[in-house]
Amino acid sequence: MRFKVLVLPGDGIGPEVTGEAVKVMEAVSARTGLAVDYVRDEVGGAAMDRHGVPIREETLELARRSHAVLFGAVGGPRWDDPKAPVRPEQGLLALRKGMGVFANLRPVRVFPCLEAASPVKPERLRGVDLVVVRELTGGLYYATPKRRWQTSRGRAGVDTLKYTEAEIRRILRVGFELARARRKRLTSVDKANVLETSRLWREVASEMGCEYPDVALEHALVDSCAMQLVSNPARFDVLVMENTFGDILSDEASVLSASLGMLPSASLSRVPAGDGRGRGSRSPGLYEPVHGSAPDIAGQGKANPVGAILSAALMLRYSLGRPHEAALVERAVERALTGGLRTADIAAPGQRVVTTKEMGNAVAELVRTL
Ligand code: IPM
Ligand code: MG
Repeated sequence: MRFKVLVLPGDGIGPEVTGEAVKVMEAVSARTGLAVDYVRDEVGGAAMDRHGVPIREETLELARRSHAVLFGAVGGPRWDDPKAPVRPEQGLLALRKGMGVFANLRPVRVFPCLEAASPVKPERLRGVDLVVVRELTGGLYYATPKRRWQTSRGRAGVDTLKYTEAEIRRILRVGFELARARRKRLTSVDKANVLETSRLWREVASEMGCEYPDVALEHALVDSCAMQLVSNPARFDVLVMENTFGDILSDEASVLSASLGMLPSASLSRVPAGDGRGRGSRSPGLYEPVHGSAPDIAGQGKANPVGAILSAALMLRYSLGRPHEAALVERAVERALTGGLRTADIAAPGQRVVTTKEMGNAVAELVRTL
């Protein structure tokens, strides 16, 4: 079996970190014989410069015909004009929608050797192992009307928060299934004291809870959940929420693991079998680090490639059906970190800092030899 992976490096630090993720994948192939063909294409600002659009229809077609897409990041000051009709981010949104990847998994782990690098007190970080399950193809990001206009008393704008029962049900199912395969706790996050979509969400979650008597379901309001994510993060297992809440809370949760540069994500178009471990589950997916294009440090070798490398591990697990290889990459990352390797974002004062490439080389070498 040969796998086909579409690589979309994008803008800013995207190409640097994606390059390291592919390097680590090649080390996996060298070690295990895993056969992967890589196809590269442009997305975001890079695609706008070259083709005038943030993503081409043929790129979407390539994505749909691949086993997985490895994505870097999009955006940057060059394309940041608020009046511009097209933005690089639209390339990513079109890709998510075009691939139908409605379920975004953002696991947050705290490597013990990085506890001191997080702004949260080490005793609060002990035992943190959570997954944010973010609905990715609906809600405020996509629903219409979405526009700006001029009124006689000034400008106005509207975005729409809309969810159907079917959309809510399928993302909640991902949450319940993941929780079932983990520590069996599901926190459904909403704003049911104010939002109608949230009241529907809560109702559906409670109904589905009956199908999962082994999973402890709790409802949390998004504001109080945001507070608990930093004051008592170890209490969480799986958290499931709508698109915008997930965007915000996953950035917040990243401070637990010391840096946004550490976090991977998997976006899937169907409910993964269990947690993807062991059962050869496969579904075409989109894999991207949670961080953005960080234009301020682009091209300087300062970016942390761990989020991208761990995203490749998730790709091995969820789209290529290779749980052992996924675990190998995760162990290699852990070993590199316990061995003292630090990019600038996770280094303590005075600690030696390695470049993006040095971190990638070290992880690739560990994958070959561990
Ligand atoms: C993310 C990013 C994207 C999002 C942007 C780049 C459109 O912040 O993946 O979290 O808002 O989904
Ligand atoms: Mg975000």
